[in-house]
Amino acid sequence: MHEDFTAKITIDSDFAIGEIDPRIYGSLIEHMERVVYGGIYEPGHPQADERGFRKDIIRLVRETGIPLIRYPGGNFVSGYNWEDGVGPLSERPKRLDLSWIAREPNEVGLHEFMHWAEAAGVACNLAVNLGLRGVDAARNLVEYCNFPRGSHWSDLRIAHGRREPYRIKTWCLGNEMDGPWQIGTKSARDYGRLTCETARAMRRVDPTIELVACGSSTGKMASFPEWDATVLEHAYDEVDYLSLHTYFTNTGGDAASYLAKAVEMDRQIQAIVATCDYVRAKVHSAKRMFLSFDEWGIWSREERANRDAWSWRWDDANAVSEGMYSFQDGLLAGSMLLSLIRHADRVKIACWAQLVNHLSLVSCAKGGPLWKQTVYYPFAHAARYGRGIALAPSIAGPRYDTADGSEVPILDAAAVISNSGRELALFTVNRHLQRPLPVEVVLHGFGAYRPVEHIVYESRDPQAGNTREQPERVVPTARSGAALAASVAVEGKTATIALPAASWNVIRLEAVET
Ligand code: AHR
Repeated sequence: MHEDFTAKITIDSDFAIGEIDPRIYGSLIEHMERVVYGGIYEPGHPQADERGFRKDIIRLVRETGIPLIRYPGGNFVSGYNWEDGVGPLSERPKRLDLSWIAREPNEVGLHEFMHWAEAAGVACNLAVNLGLRGVDAARNLVEYCNFPRGSHWSDLRIAHGRREPYRIKTWCLGNEMDGPWQIGTKSARDYGRLTCETARAMRRVDPTIELVACGSSTGKMASFPEWDATVLEHAYDEVDYLSLHTYFTNTGGDAASYLAKAVEMDRQIQAIVATCDYVRAKVHSAKRMFLSFDEWGIWSREERANRDAWSWRWDDANAVSEGMYSFQDGLLAGSMLLSLIRHADRVKIACWAQLVNHLSLVSCAKGGPLWKQTVYYPFAHAARYGRGIALAPSIAGPRYDTADGSEVPILDAAAVISNSGRELALFTVNRHLQRPLPVEVVLHGFGAYRPVEHIVYESRDPQAGNTREQPERVVPTARSGAALAASVAVEGKTATIALPAASWNVIRLEAVET
């Protein structure tokens, strides 16, 4: 470790990474456990709207500024017949969901979900089933959702009560198709061919849609990144995005190594960018492939243990792997967000998996309240202040060795300037568990800025989390006035900031009008 325990961040207004697509602050709602039934949907709950959806969750999605939700899976989609979820409720079949060994009542289907999405103000990133189904079901679904009228499926939508097309723009072509756990898993070649044909048929129905092909389900798959290259070799010109997924778990090793896990996310993104660019050259395409990190998240220790102890079969909407995130999980979530922001030039969509009750940003009790998990706060800060242009921070400072042999900086950071240029947000994580880190921030090419707020997220107990009984045990604090002056000192183009040990920080600066 460095003798001099200080760090320096240099930000130059000319070094822009790219414009942040707000869709990187998306989430996932899958038909599994208590995400839909007993999550967003609970008829009879005091907060339920006329269709049974909890208004407190809808409000929270709006307040957080989540712009996009991937739906209805996840693994669930690979066994799902979308037709089961439309039409009169009394005629909808109850199906066996082979992904989660549960029963799917089909009370919530396309129209119900789109009602929720419109109420929550989110765009839908709709996944089609390329596990047990294929081209025909996918192109019919596009016709049902997006075709104006005068055809079998569009007229059926109208008969089911929705005159205007839903105009769903973004579509996922299956889910984790490389995974042996996936219903209808495929080889890269078979999936690549199917993706190419499905994409062509879907676009003939609606040429305005955007399509996401499945990349490897984790960077740890033995076939990574060969799978991604093969899929793209078959479908490069037909799709707009390649998907990435990643989940980390605190397995109880040393905490400093756990907090450094986001560097694996950086490596995964860099490897997939290189793979996409290799295939682009190989197929002689002018098009640049973008990335959709459409599942990212953390399995808390508690959730992992609950899932491992899983023994039930064919129940409805069970709380199998619900759990509490620790403050440390929240810090890692913060670093993962920084990785997404720093790759804003290529990552255009990202979905925290999932929104509610399972691996979730928030949890809710049956008939009871809603509370925010520790991972919610960095997510909400980034969704609010991480809008505009991502700038490339140059970071110098002390480093440490992790269990996998990587040397990782103690300071993790990302910088975002608003499109107007008036607000500059600096997001930082001090990964050191015991020591506060003094940081000097040097601004190049900017006018004068003054600090307006320093949001600090820290906890005396790294394992503490929020529960129904203690919903605000771990919350951030916002420093302004004298407290702000004590933690952020600005002199000319240099700011000096004290980052508490093991903390997530948002330092907000504002241009001084001259
Ligand atoms: O989020 C839970 C599951 O994790 C998703 O269904 C699947 O895509 C991933 O493996």
